[in-house]
Amino acid sequence: MIGAKIISFKTIDSTNNYIKNHQADLEDGTIIVSKQQTQGRGRGNHVWESDLGNLYFSFIQKKDISYGNIFSLLSRVCVTIINVLAQYNVHASIKYPNDILIKNKKISGILIETYGNLLLESLIVGIGINVNQIQFGSLQNKATSLQLETDKKVDLDELLQLFIQEYNKSLVVDDMSIFDEYLKHSIVLGKGIDYQGTKYKINTISNRGELLLKSESENKRLQLNEISLEELYDE
Ligand code: BTN
Repeated sequence: MIGAKIISFKTIDSTNNYIKNHQADLEDGTIIVSKQQTQGRGRGNHVWESDLGNLYFSFIQKKDISYGNIFSLLSRVCVTIINVLAQYNVHASIKYPNDILIKNKKISGILIETYGNLLLESLIVGIGINVNQIQFGSLQNKATSLQLETDKKVDLDELLQLFIQEYNKSLVVDDMSIFDEYLKHSIVLGKGIDYQGTKYKINTISNRGELLLKSESENKRLQLNEISLEELYDE
């Protein structure tokens, strides 16, 4: 369960950093939320612009975790976000591994970080959802928000509560059913990509988060996070 305890900030460097720095003192499932972040981080060392108006939060998971089940957690979070957005009548899809898109524009991203070495001590799950931002500058063609999609301002506390409710509800659903939901909303299956100079088709995603590729001459199995799917094309 998440959200029994919520710690809120007006400004913070990054909600993921807060958990990293205080993880020993935080109980399993604690949520850190901030109105803005000064050093919001995305995957692959990208900056996650975090001005007022959007939802930025992280939670810590300490129980039932292993390096092998990070993708299960990730798919559960993706499916939860899809279900939450659907409650606003917004129908989103998933771009492997963890971008949430609406018609090719990103509305949400997830950054999962691990703490511990040989023994995994905790997982930090950071989530950014574009909510009331309506100008994206140079990213206008690549990003969207709940307000842009619905023409309505959305309450950030209500959205966070909905996420908590949906996520906790999902915990009684087994990993395979969640994974099926993840695949159902995935937009990358059957798409073409260039990888190391060869053209492949994305055949499927395994339930451990590997990407299975097929070319005319070979099959390839890429680990979670081994590739970033920038350019996809229709076969
Ligand atoms: C991505 O798509 O690259 C992941 C973006 C994750 C952003 C969230 S906002 C809350 C949490 N704190 C951070 O610094 N990053 C994550």
